[in-house]
Amino acid sequence: MNFKVPRGTQDILPTETWKWQKVERIINEVCDLYRYQEIRTPMFEQTELFQRTVGDTTDIVQKEMYTFTDRGNRSLTLRPEGTASVVRSFVEHKMFGYPDQPVKLYYTGPMFRYERQQAGRYRQFVQFGVEAIGSADPAIDAEVIGLAMDVYKRAGLTELKLIINSLGDTDSRKEHREALVSHFNPHIAEFCSDCQSRIEKNPLRILDCKVDSGNPLMASAPSLADYLNEESASYFENVKSYLDDAGIPYVVDANLVRGLDYYNHTAFEIMSTSSGFGAITTLCGGGRYNGLAEEIGGPPAPGIGFAMSIERLLLAMEAEGKSFTDEPALDVYIVTLGDSARRPGFKLLGELRAADIRSDMDYMDRKMKAQMKSADRLEAKTVIIIGEDEVAEGVAQVKNMVDGTQEKIPFAELVVTIKNKLK
Ligand code: HAM
Repeated sequence: MNFKVPRGTQDILPTETWKWQKVERIINEVCDLYRYQEIRTPMFEQTELFQRTVGDTTDIVQKEMYTFTDRGNRSLTLRPEGTASVVRSFVEHKMFGYPDQPVKLYYTGPMFRYERQQAGRYRQFVQFGVEAIGSADPAIDAEVIGLAMDVYKRAGLTELKLIINSLGDTDSRKEHREALVSHFNPHIAEFCSDCQSRIEKNPLRILDCKVDSGNPLMASAPSLADYLNEESASYFENVKSYLDDAGIPYVVDANLVRGLDYYNHTAFEIMSTSSGFGAITTLCGGGRYNGLAEEIGGPPAPGIGFAMSIERLLLAMEAEGKSFTDEPALDVYIVTLGDSARRPGFKLLGELRAADIRSDMDYMDRKMKAQMKSADRLEAKTVIIIGEDEVAEGVAQVKNMVDGTQEKIPFAELVVTIKNKLK
């Protein structure tokens, strides 16, 4: 029997992992710069957590969750996203009591959604996300959006579009909801079965329907923008002003509703505009979720955050023809010839590594030519050759692979000499 990775998942091989590590380094650096601290939560949670937060009527909860019963008969779910877990942890660990509010957190890790596999859409994917919890200042909305843009910028991306919208507060949404019901109800029979149940449970979701997106009633549907009360409208104006001040360009899109229930006020997505990018253009999505902490038993703690998948970030880099500088090359490759050379070679390898010199040697007992080929493939900057004569003399041949020159250096001086050359 031939085993393969499960559908919608992928092995990330060493030819790719170094790029992931570069992205992760950028993420850690940017988060450190903005004072966001890392949080690590479990990969599964009580199913009810996602039902209550992401929402019972969403595609994620209805169609995409990996839910299982454990041996203790508990219903658990592999996390489809990170916000619910982070806010759960915020409440559980009483982070609302921390002296420095808002609490600014970030995470990177696998998420699981049973979706139809296509380019850029996986069943296991890695999200980097941030959550700033405890402040309802529109400036933090702009900070969070700016942080996401900064990560893309440092990865070299330029073909980006930021779209924003306001979903308003509970009162605004209630009025809008009523208007949506009056708009769609007389014609609901023309819509898909999902929309027919959405009209009762969550009519806003209809606007997000992929099946009925072409129905003319969609374009004429009442826009949330016309239902924002004064407070919501002014909040949105402030967010836009802060983005303007920060020099972050955006487009307001009144149709942006997002696919999770916990949002209110600011919602945003960042898309790739690169012509080389596939059908799914959303790189990052996020928004404000005042009320979420209370929904799961905590005190009021307004929050905002986003998540982006690393897979899509790397795809966008490819589409824009941006790459990281090459895989880091090896500093030294040690070629040993004959049994008596292996032990001093191995000892030297340890000394080089202790001096932070990236080095490796042959473990296949190969001939000189094959070892030199390996050194070439690994792009070693220096090759140290030790044969029986060299051992007897207490020296090694040191070949500079960049200019081809070769010299003899006593063992005792090797590490210092190479360290100096690499500087
Ligand atoms: P989301 O829009 O469901 O939001 O996902 C955010 C991002 O995760 C997407 O823009 C995309 O980059 C990535 N993503 C989602 N599904 C897949 C998939 N099947 N394959 C690859 N990438 C995917 C959330 O998850 C919210 N928790 C974001 C948030 C944080 N809102 C506030 N705080």
